Amino acid sequence: MNVEELFRRYLEQRREMGESELVLDTLTVDEVLRIVGAHGKRAVAPARPAVGGDWRRALIEADAAVPAPRPAAPQADAPRRSAVPLASSSPLAPLAPAARLSDLAPPGLVVGAGEAELFGGPIGRAATLGEIAEMVRTCTRCPLYATAINPVPGEGSATAQLMCIGEAPGATEDETGRPFVGQAGKLLTDILRAINLSREEVFIANVMKHRPPGNRNPTPDEITACSPYLVRQVELIRPKVILALGTFAAQTLLDTKLAIGKLRGAMHWYHGTPLIATYHPAALLRNPGWKKPTWEDVKLVRRILDSVAA
Ligand code: URA
Repeated sequence: MNVEELFRRYLEQRREMGESELVLDTLTVDEVLRIVGAHGKRAVAPARPAVGGDWRRALIEADAAVPAPRPAAPQADAPRRSAVPLASSSPLAPLAPAARLSDLAPPGLVVGAGEAELFGGPIGRAATLGEIAEMVRTCTRCPLYATAINPVPGEGSATAQLMCIGEAPGATEDETGRPFVGQAGKLLTDILRAINLSREEVFIANVMKHRPPGNRNPTPDEITACSPYLVRQVELIRPKVILALGTFAAQTLLDTKLAIGKLRGAMHWYHGTPLIATYHPAALLRNPGWKKPTWEDVKLVRRILDSVAA
């Protein structure tokens, strides 16, 4: 089934459910159905003139020039640095091992709350996304596992050119174990489609892999505990662009307190990977005025993908 047919069925379902507007734009379902050439049950309103760069244009173009999937990258079985053995002729006399590291020297500064995972702990050694998902499944690094129904490690292509990163699973994600499948997720799927990407060819994840109870904000300790999973996912996938969805993801990844309104519209870098920050789809549902800037941001994502693919 081609994309147009899928899209037509989707829109017809929405219309049958009594919906008349697509969430991210002001088009009526009838107008969009007209664009994709379907025959509606109701009279179709005349199409309004296209405005440059709006969702209508994106939807029209959505079926064109979907980039060919990249050849599968070799999974991360690359040789790792081995520990350098101490030369047997070392001038250092062997020292008795300390019972506790803190016995070796006076206390100093602590960076990252004692977190050592980024430097080759078990998570940093995970060789595949599947291994990470398995580690997340049995994770007890913070208390969130105890209240969540399911872990939500993330899903999508292991060779994705784009990684979309949100905050944390919500209720629907917690129930299903899948990221961005609630109302906000449907909107994210629409946004991706408008820049010629399907959910299957990107990787969708969250900073937090378990739902905080009642969708409360994660604590700094919980973020520290969970972050190595995302870092390793980014390392394994090596996306060409990261799209940070919403204030929390953008501020966490960019290690800043700047508001999303200040972060969006620019190209940031996350360990050498371009990062675009934009409004969270859930926020778009509440604030339609943010649709336009979001559209500008995702067009920028598309342009980066096109530029680096060339
Ligand atoms: N919001 C998020 O940030 N992530 C999800 O997976 C769902 C909603």
